[in-house]
Amino acid sequence: TWTTAAFVEESVREIRARVGEKRVLLALSGGVDSSTLAFLLHKAIGDQLTCMFIDQGFMRKYEPERLVKLFKEEFHIDVEYVNARDRFLAQIEGITDPEEKRRRIGHEFIRVFEEESKRLGPFDYLAQGTLYPDVIESADTNVDPKSGERVAVKIKSHHNVGGLPKDLRFKLVEPLRKLFKDEVRKLGRAIGLPEEIVQRQPFPGPGLAIRILGEVTAEKLNILRDADLIVRQEINRQGFYNQLWQSFAVLLPIRSVGVMGDQRTYAYPIVLRLVKSEDGMTADWARVPYDLLETISNRIVNEVKGVNRVVYDITSKPPGTIEWE
Ligand code: XMP
Repeated sequence: TWTTAAFVEESVREIRARVGEKRVLLALSGGVDSSTLAFLLHKAIGDQLTCMFIDQGFMRKYEPERLVKLFKEEFHIDVEYVNARDRFLAQIEGITDPEEKRRRIGHEFIRVFEEESKRLGPFDYLAQGTLYPDVIESADTNVDPKSGERVAVKIKSHHNVGGLPKDLRFKLVEPLRKLFKDEVRKLGRAIGLPEEIVQRQPFPGPGLAIRILGEVTAEKLNILRDADLIVRQEINRQGFYNQLWQSFAVLLPIRSVGVMGDQRTYAYPIVLRLVKSEDGMTADWARVPYDLLETISNRIVNEVKGVNRVVYDITSKPPGTIEWE
């Protein structure tokens, strides 16, 4: 039977044997896979590991800071925090087409990754949180015909963009490659990752940028971050987080009329998206209590400047998608 202690011990041994004295780069995303991976590698090779976190500026409120702090203070693992917020925002300035937005964000990710890995490197190995189902699909890797080793040709990064440049092809360390997601969660919990990471709902690579319909601006990002935080707080407080596949806010780029005190308002609506799903392929809108909807709506309209209306998305997938872009 599978025990986490035995797995950790075996992984540490394997990683050391594979990597030797060489340096390893790991891109943290904030999810359970890359976090567990960081822990294992750090245990195995200490300073030979460099963890890099690229902040695109599209994460949820407080998440980048919390991630870096968690790693530094709880795990004593240093994180190279790369603040790339301005350049990502500049890349998508004025862009309203969803696919074009994704494409640009994906390409910028590769550019930043390239620059930063050269600045911090050189590295021989790239650590990837490949899981067993990914090994079977095997889309992000090639097998080197000479050595028979798996070589990264893409970064597993949520971004379906072109491959890595030829001079930047790393050998791979993939200690999670025999595990399924629920085993990673179990492992993550056993090594002391907080529940907020272990049970984290899926979050798309382009993040909040695809939850602001149309053009993304700094102002809209701030509004959505604040609204999204309220959704998360109430969903957590009322015990729904683990029952939902995803729960989040979407900002629409239109404005409608409202009234606040004796003032007429003209501001953005927020869409609440709360769904149940097994695998993200199909999904059902969640039948949550009206009280929960009411609390979220009241808090958003009262606390988030720039929003005067909250609507609930009651579309299932299909025909709707989970995200709005
Ligand atoms: P849709 O919106 O297609 O989403 O119903 C299905 C699941 O995939 C997630 N999603 C993404 N994940 N990069 C990701 O890593 C992306 O570009 C992306 N787009 C959608 C979505 O959050 C949902 O869980």
